[in-house]
Order: sequence, then structure tokens, then C-alpha cells
Amino acid sequence: MHLENSLNKILIIDFGSQFTQLIARKIREVGVYCEIISNNKINKKKLDKNVKGLVLSGGPLNVYQNKKVKFNKELLNAKIPVLGICFGHQIISKEMGGKVKQSKFREFGLAKVKKVKNSILTNNFFKKGQCDVWMSHSDEVTKLPKNFKVVAKSSNSKLCIVENKKKNLYGIQFHPEVTHTNNGKIILKNFVFDICKLRKNWSSKNQKIKLIKEVRNQVGNSKVICALSGGVDSSVVAKLLSYAIGKKLTCIFVNTGLLRKNEEYQVIETFKKKFKLNLIYINAEKEFLKKLKNVIDPEKKRKIIGNLFIKIFEKCAKKIKNVKFLAQGTLYPDLIESKSVTGSQTSKIKSHHNVGGLPKKMNLKLVEPLKYLFKDEVRKLGLELNLSKEIISRHPFPGPGLAIRMPGIITKDKIKILKEADYYFIKSLKENNLYDKIWQAYAALLPVKTVGVMGDNRTYEYLCLLRAITSEDGMTADFFEFKKSFMQSISNQIVNNIRGINRVVYDITSKPPSTIELE
Ligand code: XMP
Repeated sequence: MHLENSLNKILIIDFGSQFTQLIARKIREVGVYCEIISNNKINKKKLDKNVKGLVLSGGPLNVYQNKKVKFNKELLNAKIPVLGICFGHQIISKEMGGKVKQSKFREFGLAKVKKVKNSILTNNFFKKGQCDVWMSHSDEVTKLPKNFKVVAKSSNSKLCIVENKKKNLYGIQFHPEVTHTNNGKIILKNFVFDICKLRKNWSSKNQKIKLIKEVRNQVGNSKVICALSGGVDSSVVAKLLSYAIGKKLTCIFVNTGLLRKNEEYQVIETFKKKFKLNLIYINAEKEFLKKLKNVIDPEKKRKIIGNLFIKIFEKCAKKIKNVKFLAQGTLYPDLIESKSVTGSQTSKIKSHHNVGGLPKKMNLKLVEPLKYLFKDEVRKLGLELNLSKEIISRHPFPGPGLAIRMPGIITKDKIKILKEADYYFIKSLKENNLYDKIWQAYAALLPVKTVGVMGDNRTYEYLCLLRAITSEDGMTADFFEFKKSFMQSISNQIVNNIRGINRVVYDITSKPPSTIELE
């Protein structure tokens, strides 16, 4: 999928590595535009003239499984510099006449790489002739192809960095894109600037100007509607569009009653009062509660909320005259078509409901100004658009809201209790400077009552679960380690201040095997 036809770029060919998106983000961080394309797709396409360098990603396959890996060797003769990482390194070596075999010793985790000779790729990379890097492989290149030279070796991989300078082909066994590789960014910089000869063409400042211009061109004099949830993506879309087309934008904000405490007031205060956007506020609390009455099944909850949301949104949108466009906060990871490169099918775990991604049958054209961007780029753009740091750094919040943080039946009383618990938890994280260290945190209310004692009285109340995780992208996650003093304090605050909760537990599962949300 080629998105940006006007910019010179690096094209990353994905072989299914879990780090492919990280490679793209790191290249963009150094200021150069890049795109990801699945190896399955590239075979059928001709490279466009703006591609100035190729990166071949890692991947879970073995290069000697001929049937599974069909790589178009012509790409190595296209006179475009190529950098192969891990599996990418192995496939370059194999295709150019070298040999790849299963290693005697697998290398996972930190390893030391030692310099053998100078190379443009490794300028300023080594300190005293060596560098700590992060490895993740069980195969290795065992025979160098003709006209290739060894640039560096590790104890288990003699051909750890290799090059064919004349053909501009480079291979590295470790992962320069992960933070554990010291100086990994230097390798990527050397490749894009000194080998591919690209210039910086990507920053949030040019993004703002460019995107505003593009939206104006696309929309002309027509009106646009946008579902605003108060989350980062829809807030950035709304602000960008208001800069681009002013009052021709109408935002619709649906209060499902399942939002965090005071969220509706914050959205109205920010977007209607401060930024003076056209904002229609719909309070649909009662409707949602009615439809969700006695529903326990998580998937049913999600479907009910998603469908009712569309219905309300459509009804409201129809009342606005001459609307031709619907603005959505689609991001680049939503578009990358590389997930099935290994041929595997991911099983459906949950039906995600994204307020931005719904009404398909409304006959409106889509405006998706963030579709080339990663989340961290959207955050930077948001700051350029004068959104506050508080909005920009908000933790993700799921479309179905508190409904999926309350296993069992949903009642008005339970929502009230949960909103309070979540409020105290998030407030404490902010007061203790922990909020920005955590990728996502929330309180949940479990459908269990337990016995407690307060003063001289017995209590029989709900169990509150706290979850706080660190993550790169929400696909995998680890629980955050709090100090005992913080846990003690938040448990006391919740139990002492909220009638209805007499016990607090902390979720110490990672993802996988658990998911981030409870339902
Ligand atoms: P899970 O629970 O699947 O969550 O590990 C991964 C990330 O996705 C968020 N999430 C959602 N976001 N609509 C959304 O917009 C949804 O239906 C939804 N369900 C989960 C979740 O909060 C976490 O950040």
C-alpha cells in the first residue's frame, strides 16, 4: 500500500516480525518518511520511484523453507540500497549465494558485537570496537555470499554484520530498532542518510501544515461531521479539521453514561467553550442503560453498545444539512496489511468497537487525515495543534467504556461506584508522577461481594480490581510494579471514600495470557 506518493521514502518489507512497526517508527523518528508493505504484496507490485531504500524485516520463518518464503530476488538487483535485519539478513545472504543454517546456540537477549572492519553502516556505532545489541534468532548465516565482507561478529554469529558495498546490500543479525540495542538508531541513521542519501522530510511541524492543506483540498466547501470521544485520536482529528475548515466541521459527542467521571464536562469545556468548535452533545445515558439491562455476556454488551452508538450518531448526523464527509481517526497501524504474512489466522478475541470507525452505510465520504501516522506521531501533532498535554497523554479508553470494566450486570449504582474508584486511582497516579510511566490504568468493579469490618461494623460490599500496565502498542503488556506505600494509600482512599467497595485487589497478569480489559 503506497500512501504518500510525493515524498522520498524507505520501504520496509515485512516478513511478519513483531518489531516491524518499531523499525518504521524509528526511521520516522530520525526524520524520514517510510512505509511498510507485506512481502506477500511486494512481489506483485513495481517499486515506485520515490523508494530510495529497502529494509527487510525479521520474521518467524526459516529462509530454507523454500515453499513458505517467496522473495523476489530482483529487489536485490534494483540498484536501491537494502538493509536486512535478522531474517532479512539471512534472506539476502541466501539469495546472493551464501548459506543459512540452524544455529548450534540460539541467541535471545543481549549480546556483544565486535568490530571486524570499518563500514559506512557502522560509523560511530562501536565504542572501543564493540557494542551491546539485542538478538532474537535461532538460525544464522554460515557462509558469506561472493563479494560480501564481514563488518562485525558476535560470539555465536561469526557473520553478524555483513556488506556488499558495491551493490549497497547490508545485513545485520541483531535488531537495531529495539531500545536494548545501544546505538541502534545510529545504524538506521547511517543507512537512511549516508547510504540511501535521503534528506529529512518528516516532522510534526510539516505534518500540521501539509495535513491542513490536504483536508482543505479534499473537502472544498462541503460540511464534515466527526464523532468526538475525547480520546487522543478523535481530539486531534477534530482540532486539525477545525484549523482547516472552521465552522464547516460539526463534532458529535455521545455520552453513553459509561465514560470516566466528569469526562463529558471536560470534553464540552475543552472543545465547545475553549476551542469554540461546533459541538453537538447527546446525553444517551438512559438509552444505553436500558438496552444493557440484565446483559452479562461480554460480546453482547459490546455489540449492543456499538449498534446503539451508530443509531444515535446517524440520527443526529441526518439533521445536519449538506454533510458530505465523515472524519475518522484511522491510524497507520490500522491500515498495515502485513499481519497474515506467516499465513496464520489470529482468532477473534473481542469485537472491538471504535467510535471513529463505525457508520459505513451513511453514504458519506471519509476524511482520514491521520492514516499515515503512528500513535506517537499523532501525539506530537496534537501538541502542534495546541491541544493540552493532558489530552495528548491520556491513556487509551475503550469504545464500550466502563461496561467492559464491570463483569456481570450493569446498573446505575455500580457505574457510580466504579466512576469514583477509577477517579481516585487515576488522580493518585497523577499526584505521584506515575501516570505517564504507565501505558494504561483503570479500576474495575468485580461482581463479587466480600465481608469486611469498618469500625465495629461488618460490611458486605463489592471487590474493586486495579489494573496498570506497561506496553509498546497494547498487543502485549506487563503489569506495572507499584511500591507498597502507593498500593496501601490507594487501597485506603478507595475503601474509605467509596461506599460500596470494601476490598481492593491488584491484577498481576500480563498480556498474554490475559487481555488488558476484563471483557
Ligand atoms: P485488550 O483488552 O484487547 O485491549 O487487550 C487492547 C487495547 O484495546 C483497547 N480496547 C478497545 N478500544 N474499542 C476501543 O476503541 C474497543 O472495543 C476496545 N476494547 C479494548 C483496550 O483499552 C486496550 O488499550
